[in-house]
Amino acid sequence: MAFNIAIDGPAGAGKSTIAKAFAQRLSYIYVDTGAMYRAMALYLLREGISAEDEGGIEEACERVDISLVHEDGVQKVLLNGEDVSSLIRSEEVGNMASKSAQNGKVREKLVELQRQLAARTDVVMDGRDIGTCVLPKADVKIYLTASVHTRAVRRYKEYLDKGMEADLARIEEDIEKRDHQDMNREISPLKRAADAVLLDSSDLTIEEVLDTMMEICKNKKI
Ligand code: CDP
Ligand code: CDP
Repeated sequence: MAFNIAIDGPAGAGKSTIAKAFAQRLSYIYVDTGAMYRAMALYLLREGISAEDEGGIEEACERVDISLVHEDGVQKVLLNGEDVSSLIRSEEVGNMASKSAQNGKVREKLVELQRQLAARTDVVMDGRDIGTCVLPKADVKIYLTASVHTRAVRRYKEYLDKGMEADLARIEEDIEKRDHQDMNREISPLKRAADAVLLDSSDLTIEEVLDTMMEICKNKKI
């Protein structure tokens, strides 16, 4: 039986950082479901299909092929066989992902892929609906969060580290907007599963979060 660890939470909570490092500690596969929504978004942008075009999206879902492959512990996202791991990281793709992730057909297709991956391998999977919808029977569920201000400061530092200019107040506004969109959408909104452990990382370092996660898993006898 494959062990499944689900990590959900809002943008900037540290899901991908923590899920990736935790998967490495346990020698599990890290599954970044956000990357799948981003790959789908890139496809729609390339095909000129808008997030409101229900028919266009349905057809696109039928012909697109999105997959995750892991080479030496590094995840690659393939869109119709092309490695788009770097291309999907733009702001434009992120915004389209957030919009197209509200479409039922898109979610149906990607959730199916995510479940297939988790059924055959031990995974740490992060996203918005993993504990509530994708893997309702996950062995461990974590709802990772942090205050809006902390998350904004984290994103702000990431921009500065890349030598880019950034406006903290604007980032804070964007995060609030994205939270609202993810938490209030009709299908699979972001919310803490009843059996998820709440982990607030506002005052914790990455190491401290990882140690807390290890304790949670030990209690579950993983
Ligand atoms: O995936 P998600 O949007 O939840 O967050 P992320 O892309 O992992 O970004 C989180 C940022 O906060 C990264 O720059 C981390 O280095 C930093 N960070 C963290 O993840 N956890 C902490 N306890 C402290 C800082
Ligand atoms: O920018 P950030 O790292 O926070 O987002 P992401 O994890 O790369 O996901 C991009 C977008 O896909 C998010 O804004 C979500 O709306 C959506 N998403 C989702 O709906 N369900 C998931 N399981 C993962 C991502």
